[in-house]
Amino acid sequence: MKGLFITFEGLDGSGKTTQIALLSDYLKRKGLEVITAIEPGGTALGDKIRHMLLDRENAGMSHKAETFLFEASRAELVSKVIGPALGRGKIIICDRFFDSTIVYQGIARGLGVEKIMELSLWATDGIVPDLTFLLSVDVDGGEERLSGSSKSRDRIESEEDKFKQSIYEGYLELSRKYSDRIILVDGKQDIKKIFGQIKERIDRELDKL
Ligand code: TYD
Repeated sequence: MKGLFITFEGLDGSGKTTQIALLSDYLKRKGLEVITAIEPGGTALGDKIRHMLLDRENAGMSHKAETFLFEASRAELVSKVIGPALGRGKIIICDRFFDSTIVYQGIARGLGVEKIMELSLWATDGIVPDLTFLLSVDVDGGEERLSGSSKSRDRIESEEDKFKQSIYEGYLELSRKYSDRIILVDGKQDIKKIFGQIKERIDRELDKL
């Protein structure tokens, strides 16, 4: 069997972890071999890079350094885990992949979509997910808070909302551009309903293998 590479994308708190667990269980119950991974991380080196990226002490990291660290973690994950697993016909489910870098660094940080795409394809040796589920939730209560108390929020809080809003919009833009690969799922629906939509799409994909 040809391998299948599935990724999940969305804002923090969009429910990716829950849906990945449900999908992994579902596929395993069908007797399929499933490997799950998380970005950044998923390898010994990648876990160290993840620590560097999430460490608050590195808060002032330059946007380009941040980008290269995400790509370095990804290159290691592809060469050590994803590439070999696909070669053995396995199913890989990854929590985030290069669409995150396109949206977070390329769009929200302003480094440019084309540049990030080029770097990402170089890091992955051209490996692109077969299917990407975008769990879309808008910026949590953002509009409500903005309308009421915009003056009382500090610089960082407003930056955060702006940053998240551009991520939300960036993801939507990406899902329109790559509509054959990226499946937009309304992440505000209940867990079962969301999984029903994912399952239906996955079943169709499995029939093709
Ligand atoms: P994590 O704790 O894994 O968050 P989540 O559960 O939402 O995936 O932290 C990863 C953070 O890194 C998350 O805020 C998204 C961000 N990120 C990027 O900015 N660029 C990337 O390429 C990736 C993979 C993640």
